[in-house]
Amino acid sequence: MTAKRRILVTSALPYANGPIHLGYLLEAVQTDVWVRFQKLRGHECLYVCADDTHGTPIMLKAQAEGVEPSTLIEAVHADHTRDLADMLIGLDNFGSTHAAANEAVCRRMYLALREAGHIERRVIRQAYDASANMFLPDRYVKGTCPNCGAADQYGDSCEVCGATYTPADLKNPVSVVSGTTPVERESEHYFFRLSAFEERLKTWVHSGAVQQSVAHKLEEWFSQGLQDWDISRDAPYFGFEIPDAPGKYFYVWFDAPIGYLGSFTEFCARSGIRFDDFFAPGSAAELHHFIGKDILYFHALFWPAVLEGAGMRRPTGVHAHGFVTINGQKMSKSRGTFITARRYLQSFPPEYLRYYFAAKLGPGIDDLDMNLEEFAARLNSDIVGKLVNIASRCAGFIEKSAQGRLADALPEPALFAEFAAAGDAIAAAYEGRDYAAAMREIMALADRANQYIDQRKPWLIAKRDDGLPEVRAVCTQGLNLFRSLMIYLEPVLPEMAAKARRFLQESTWTWASSATALLGAQILRYEPLALRLDPKEVARLIEPDGTPTQPAPTQPASAPPLAAPPLAAPPAVAAAGTALSIEEFARVDLRVARIVAAELVEGADKLLKLRVDLGELGQRQIFAGIRAAYDPAGLEGRLTVVVANLAPRKMRFGVSEGMVLAAGPGGKEVFLLSPDAGATPGMRLK
Ligand code: MSP
Ligand code: ZN
Repeated sequence: MTAKRRILVTSALPYANGPIHLGYLLEAVQTDVWVRFQKLRGHECLYVCADDTHGTPIMLKAQAEGVEPSTLIEAVHADHTRDLADMLIGLDNFGSTHAAANEAVCRRMYLALREAGHIERRVIRQAYDASANMFLPDRYVKGTCPNCGAADQYGDSCEVCGATYTPADLKNPVSVVSGTTPVERESEHYFFRLSAFEERLKTWVHSGAVQQSVAHKLEEWFSQGLQDWDISRDAPYFGFEIPDAPGKYFYVWFDAPIGYLGSFTEFCARSGIRFDDFFAPGSAAELHHFIGKDILYFHALFWPAVLEGAGMRRPTGVHAHGFVTINGQKMSKSRGTFITARRYLQSFPPEYLRYYFAAKLGPGIDDLDMNLEEFAARLNSDIVGKLVNIASRCAGFIEKSAQGRLADALPEPALFAEFAAAGDAIAAAYEGRDYAAAMREIMALADRANQYIDQRKPWLIAKRDDGLPEVRAVCTQGLNLFRSLMIYLEPVLPEMAAKARRFLQESTWTWASSATALLGAQILRYEPLALRLDPKEVARLIEPDGTPTQPAPTQPASAPPLAAPPLAAPPAVAAAGTALSIEEFARVDLRVARIVAAELVEGADKLLKLRVDLGELGQRQIFAGIRAAYDPAGLEGRLTVVVANLAPRKMRFGVSEGMVLAAGPGGKEVFLLSPDAGATPGMRLK
């Protein structure tokens, strides 16, 4: 492996006037996966971000809500922090551009730019709202397009004909703030002399700091000539006042990228890391910014120039991604496709979205369509059907045949070596942000592992009297293949990987751990690592108000074959929708159960025969119509919920002494319930 790198990474700063949504999550996940990958490879990698709090929209929003802007941004900061943490985004610091730390860096950099002659003052004319007493940003003036005559267009460009212009060109201009007709006023503004950096920027762009497709776009901008950049705004403005310029504020886009540094200084103060190690000119540390393609101009032109002008290093890389669409459409509140992080997290585990994004994310700037049906199908097939299946097919046999101890040697070291050898290509794909390629490689290996188990058939070997050593060897092989895959997936599935690691009783993993097999080790009882996604539940993500229209289904649509349904909620609930008194409900004894054995039932193609452990109530035999949805070996050891006081029923194949709870329409789409970690067999549900 190469020498240890020092890397600082950022995601673009989300605006503090709205919730985190799936679009931003794509960026956060893309960044976080890269950061976790670097750490797993043994590098020092730090990840900072912040809320982008300044500017006119936030000022006006606070006004409309009758609160101080600082109150508004604090509430949003708390929400953003929680959303990102719940998505397992491993930030080292999530700051705010309004923080004192950021103001200090802004002043320092501005003064350095001024000192070096990069700031110039010029008088400009701008639309002014005389009733609201404020200058109006272009987007706050609306009127008729001077080019095509379309009504109700913004002051900077026409959405109908695409013409660009200034608010002064609009016909019948109106201030969005007050509805009055704006006037023109002069004001002195502060400009950053971007044009002076043209040659140095070209060199930087061609140093490999940006993607090929982005370099082409930048060439276009260079050929149009770089304009100097207005970095000041007049009061009233929510932001930082410019030194020696009363009533003038830094434009939000000046202090926003500096927010990366502001957030980083907070982390430095806490950790003892030296800011200059990362930002002095010529620093050997790397600086990488992950952004959406809409904010390239700011990050690939202004920002490297500002850094350089202020006497600091330039970014190592600016990495742009495309936009998330939902079912082929732009995310939109009116269409119900604006899915917030919170809405997603209410229903689904963070790692499902992380995996889905990773599986679809290439290194370029193409948009990424989140198709909800594909999301469910992909998760169920890759994570549940392929990945987790390897462990669930092998773990039970190690437990039963070898008291949980792995064999001392692999029966097929060459197959294990093949998995280890794939590590380099997978690492190169992560490094180059081609996560889709990395996931493809990993899932191809998962197929190999499942094929291996299919060929060796441990369930048949286990039936032979002398089969124990062999079943143990085969399952040790299977679990080691699973282990290598979990290591490769740790950047995307950090919690699942941690659970798998604990199951294997290992304290840490690095990327290199995938090259050495785990042998002779004592492992724990296997707990299921991922459950199937219900496509119907996923479809509800885009219901207008985001709330399910009805409670979870109680009765499978296609009733299982035998008289009494062997699954579904308590019969009283299912019956005709009549209200159930609390006393009646209390008569149903719902218990946590562990499935200790599961087997096929000869002659019943929809049933599985389960033996469940109910703790203090002992063991029971239950028939359940879940065969199409579950592989019996995969069920052994897992916890679920059963109705424990149902009268025993004699069925064609034996007596059923209870009912397993499951949801879904039936067939393959049946989902067993499972309690959270910590529940133990026999616990009564309340
Ligand atoms: N505050 C600025 C960034 C300042 S960085 C110094 C901003 N904020 S934003 O909230 O509008 O967007 C934050 C990031 O999310 C941007 O990189 C943007 O491209 C990204 N996305 C916003 N909507 C998105 C999608 N629908 N899909 C993917 N990324 C999207 O711009
Ligand atoms: Zn027009």
